[in-house]
Amino acid sequence: MTTIQMNVRPEDLSQVPKGQERIPESGVLAIFGASGDLTKRKLLPALFHLEQAGLLPDRFAIVGVARRPLGDEFADDMRAGIVEFGGVEASDPKLEQFVKNIGYFSLRFDNLDDYAGLKTELDRIAAEKGIGDKRIFYLATAPEYFAPIVENLGAQGMAETERRSATVVIEKPFGHDLESARELNRQVNAVFHENQVFRIDHYLGKETVQNILVFRFANGIFEPIWNRNYIDHVQITAAETLGVEGRGPFYEKAGALRDVVQNHMMELLSLVALEPPSSFEAESVRREKLKVWRAIPTIPLLNAVRGQYGAGLVNGQHVVGYREEERVSPTSDSETFAAVRLEIENWRWAGVPFYLRAGKRLKKRATEISIQFKQPPLLIFDRIAASSACQVIQPNLLTIRIQPDEGISLRFGAKVPTTPEMDVCPVNMDFDYEAAFGKSSANGYERLLLDAMLGDQTLFSHRDGVETNWALYTPILEAWAEKNAEKFPNYVAGSWGPECADHLLARRGHAWRNDLGRKA
Ligand code: BG6
Repeated sequence: MTTIQMNVRPEDLSQVPKGQERIPESGVLAIFGASGDLTKRKLLPALFHLEQAGLLPDRFAIVGVARRPLGDEFADDMRAGIVEFGGVEASDPKLEQFVKNIGYFSLRFDNLDDYAGLKTELDRIAAEKGIGDKRIFYLATAPEYFAPIVENLGAQGMAETERRSATVVIEKPFGHDLESARELNRQVNAVFHENQVFRIDHYLGKETVQNILVFRFANGIFEPIWNRNYIDHVQITAAETLGVEGRGPFYEKAGALRDVVQNHMMELLSLVALEPPSSFEAESVRREKLKVWRAIPTIPLLNAVRGQYGAGLVNGQHVVGYREEERVSPTSDSETFAAVRLEIENWRWAGVPFYLRAGKRLKKRATEISIQFKQPPLLIFDRIAASSACQVIQPNLLTIRIQPDEGISLRFGAKVPTTPEMDVCPVNMDFDYEAAFGKSSANGYERLLLDAMLGDQTLFSHRDGVETNWALYTPILEAWAEKNAEKFPNYVAGSWGPECADHLLARRGHAWRNDLGRKA
C-alpha cells in the first residue's frame, strides 16, 4: 500500500492560552488501595504530569489509604513510581515539592471506627494546607471493598451530599453481572448523589478515543456517509499480546467478555454509533451513548464466541497456555478471547453488523476500529494491479488506530501510474498522531483525574449505562457458565484467535481485518 502523509505542522498546534486552563479547586485526594500497582504506575505519574502542566491547584494534598502500616516510605515509593512509570527526571525541581504533599493513612476498609480517624486526618491536612472542604475519594481497591468503603464514608459524614463537596471515583470492575452491578449502584447511590459518582473506564481517558467524537463532529464531511446507506459493517478489535500477567485469580473470575468487551469495547462502539450530541457536556453525551446501547437487541448465543489460548509463540518467545499460568486451574473454562456480532436497531444503523473481538496472547497488540464502506454501485474498473495483494477491488476502509501507532487512515483505490491499463491499487491516506503532534507521555488518567476533580462527568460511566451493558452480556455469561467450553484451549498463543471467531464473520460474507497496526 502507498501512504499519503497528511500535512500537520507541530508549530501550528495551539496551546491552551495561559489563564484559560481548567484548574480544579483546592482539595484532598484520598486514594483507597494505594499500595496497589495502579497508584504507583498510573495515578501518581498522571497527577505529577498535571502538576507539571500547571493544572493542579496550588493547595492540594494526596493521601494514600490502605491496610498496611506505612510511613514516609509510601511517599518515597510514589516518587520512584513517578520517575519509573511517568518518564520524569528524578532531578525534576517540581518533584521534591510535589512529594511533600503525599501522605499515608492506614485503615481497615471494613472497619467503621477507622474512618473516624481518617476524617480527622483529612481535616487536619486540609487545615494545615489551607484547603477547603473538597474531598475526592478514589477507590482503587479490590471490588469487594467498594460497597463497604462507600458505606463507611457515608456513616462518618464524609459523603457531603448537602454541599456536594465530596466526589467518589470508582475503578472497574463495576459489578460482575447485572444483579451485582445493580446492587452496587444501589449501595453507592444510597450514600452519594449520582452527580458525585465517577465510574472510571480508562479507555475514555485515551486521546484517540476522545478523538472519535472530534473526528465525527468537528468535521463536516464524514457525518453524511456515517450510516447504513454507506457503511457495510464495523469491526472493533482489542488485541493484546500479553497474557494474564500474574492476575490469574482475577482473570479466572472475569474472562475477556467481562474484563474488556462489556465495558471498554462497548464504550468504543457507542462513540462510533451515537447521534450528534447537542453539546460536549456530560448529560448530552451520556444520553446519546445510552440510546445506542439501549437500541441493541439481545445478542443470540450463536453470535457470541469464546476462546482460550494454548501454548505458542508470541513475538518470537515461547509462552505457556492459559491453563498453565500461575494460579489458574488446569481445567479452567475462563475465556481469554471473546467475539460478538451485534446490531443496533435504529434508523442510522439497522442491518449494519458490528463485530467486536478482544483477546489475550494474540499475534499483535492493536486496538482498532475499522469502518468498511460499501462498494460503489457499479465497478467499471475491474483490473487489479499486479503489485496489489488483493484479489478484488477493495472497498473503502476507514481505520481508527486507538493504540499503538495511534492515527487514522483511509483506504481508497488509485490508478497505478504508467501502465496503459486502468489498473487499480489500494492506497492509504494516513494521519499519524505522533508525527502530527509529537509523542505524548500521558497515560489517559491525567484527563480522567482532572475531570473528576473538576466535577465533569462527560468521560465517566453513568449508572444506567453500566446496567444496560450488563443486561446485554449477562445472559451470555450465564449460558457460558452453565456449559463447559468445548475444545479449550482452542487457539494457539500468537495467532488471531479461535476459528469460531472467523466463522462468526464468514456467515455474513465478512472476514476479520488482521493487518492491524500497520502504518500503511
Ligand atoms: C484492563 C483489563 O481494564 O484493560 C486488562 O483489566 C487489559 O486485562 C487492559 O489488559 C487493557 O488496557 P490497555 O489500556 O492496555 O489497552
